[in-house]
Amino acid sequence: MCGIVGYIGNKKAVPVLINGLLSLEYRGYDSAGVAVLNPNNSDYILKVVKDKGRVKILQDNSELETITGNVGIAHTRWATHGMPSKVNSHPHLDNSGKFAVVHNGIIENYVDLRKKLLDNGYTLYSDTDTEVIPNLIHMNYNGDILEAVSKTMKELKGSYAIEVISPLFADKIIVAKKDSPLVVGIGEDENFIASDIPAVLAHTNNFYFLDEQEIAVVEKNLVKFYDINLNEVTKDIKNIEWDAESSEKNGYEDYMLKEIYEQPQAIRETIGSRLSLDKKVSLGLENVDFKAFNKIYIVACGTAMHAGIASKYAFEKFCKIPTEVDMASEFRYRNPLIDEHTLCIFISQSGETADTIAALRLAKEAGSTTISIVNVIGSSITRLSDYTLYTHAGPEIAVASTKAYTCQVTLLNILVINIAESLGYESKELNSFKSSLLELPDKVKQTLETNKLVKDFADKVYTQKDLYFIGRGTDYAVSMEGSLKLKEISYIHSEAYAAGELKHGPIALIENGVTVIGIATNPITTEKTLSNLEESITRGASVLVVTNQNIKNDKIDYIINVPETDSILSPIISVIPLQLFAYYIAKNKNLDVDKPRNLAKSVTVE
Ligand code: G6P
Repeated sequence: MCGIVGYIGNKKAVPVLINGLLSLEYRGYDSAGVAVLNPNNSDYILKVVKDKGRVKILQDNSELETITGNVGIAHTRWATHGMPSKVNSHPHLDNSGKFAVVHNGIIENYVDLRKKLLDNGYTLYSDTDTEVIPNLIHMNYNGDILEAVSKTMKELKGSYAIEVISPLFADKIIVAKKDSPLVVGIGEDENFIASDIPAVLAHTNNFYFLDEQEIAVVEKNLVKFYDINLNEVTKDIKNIEWDAESSEKNGYEDYMLKEIYEQPQAIRETIGSRLSLDKKVSLGLENVDFKAFNKIYIVACGTAMHAGIASKYAFEKFCKIPTEVDMASEFRYRNPLIDEHTLCIFISQSGETADTIAALRLAKEAGSTTISIVNVIGSSITRLSDYTLYTHAGPEIAVASTKAYTCQVTLLNILVINIAESLGYESKELNSFKSSLLELPDKVKQTLETNKLVKDFADKVYTQKDLYFIGRGTDYAVSMEGSLKLKEISYIHSEAYAAGELKHGPIALIENGVTVIGIATNPITTEKTLSNLEESITRGASVLVVTNQNIKNDKIDYIINVPETDSILSPIISVIPLQLFAYYIAKNKNLDVDKPRNLAKSVTVE
């Protein structure tokens, strides 16, 4: 995830662009840059200033003072392909230096496109997927920029919001989008472009929203829209009245809610080009001899550990290797039985958690192979691990992790497929598992529609003191995450139990005023979990069930129906109502959901 801004008008472009970037920093902040068409005699030249680091570093760059032009594009980066560095920062130029491009999204077929460009004599200077775009535009350019952009869009797979400027058409910014956000803000004798409304809300309240695979030609007094085949499209202007605080969060009340709603896109980007039905998964692990392992350890902390627990079932089922999940803080002090025949997988959103780093060092000393699943590119864990696989969740700002979890579980399951295929365990079942994974972004989007019902239940039970989550198998795994979310942000005492364990102790605590949430998405265990819920209802509990089965039971207070999927993947779907539940409970209690007391986003102490 990155942020992009554009300006065309009569003002100096740089200050408008920098202010826009500053308000988009929540989308990414490892490097930033601008490209402006600067007057040069009777012509224009492209001036590009960019560097690694936050927007502030760019803002303080004295080179910007020499830039007076009124047309420009800008970018703040959250690295996905290529480390944060000056050369990988945007804007990127084509080899002729005529086209400058900024891009938010992921070009999934960039390896093929790089090859095509290299075969055609182009040089690529960065490690990014983006650099193919200006060069493809150059390759497709025969005097008509719209044709060139349309042809280029047809070659790109993946997601993008792009802006293009060039001295060849100095009165225009060309923009295009697919699966990444982009808005055009309308001013008087000036127009604005941004990833999100907040970046330009100081200048206008009137916006056009681009639809999928649309192109806009933005001039200072005119905006025209086209579909990918260059048929003109008409659009209505929308008036947006937001205050400063809500605009920072793109209209959401809190970062946590925003991040919950970003999950379909974050999962889509994490799957990216890694998974398709017609070829084997390739995660760059060709040198790993998976036959050498007789055991897998998954090690992490907090929510990341819960992602491991939710994925253990898949490792055992499809890779047929015994898999244990451990807390990093326990693993590191208990002399785990690991050696060169153990594969150790570490999961971390931040890549900086002290216990996880220590556990990783221990595993390396023992001669184990280490693979890490990390969200923050270039973080400590990525530098220490033998192999790193990145979730593409984008920056997660709320302390309570949401989108990182669903992306971690998604990526772990893709790793499962990679290992199973390397071991020769291809099967019909594995193929249908792949299809189920590919359907996840749409199903997660559908699941977000449960919000009203979940809020309704939260409104009823938010004053209660004790809450239990129960489930079996992966439903138990997701119960743990639901319970942790609730504890973290609502400060309500909560525990997760394997449903069958309820009768071995905790049922003694069930009475009037206690809430029990059941997760029942596995057809084999649903009846059993329902019986355990009935036992709770009999003792006075309020009950909510999250299920994809056809449950008819009048005694259950709320039934949240979620889309069906392979039961191994169901945590990615069933966690959504649980995240929303914790969120609405905390809101009812007027708590700061983004910064819960006593907790930190990144725990770099033991
Ligand atoms: C803290 C955060 C959690 C997170 C855990 C592990 O406790 O509050 O949200 O799950 O650390 O962090 P990591 O960055 O390693 O995933």
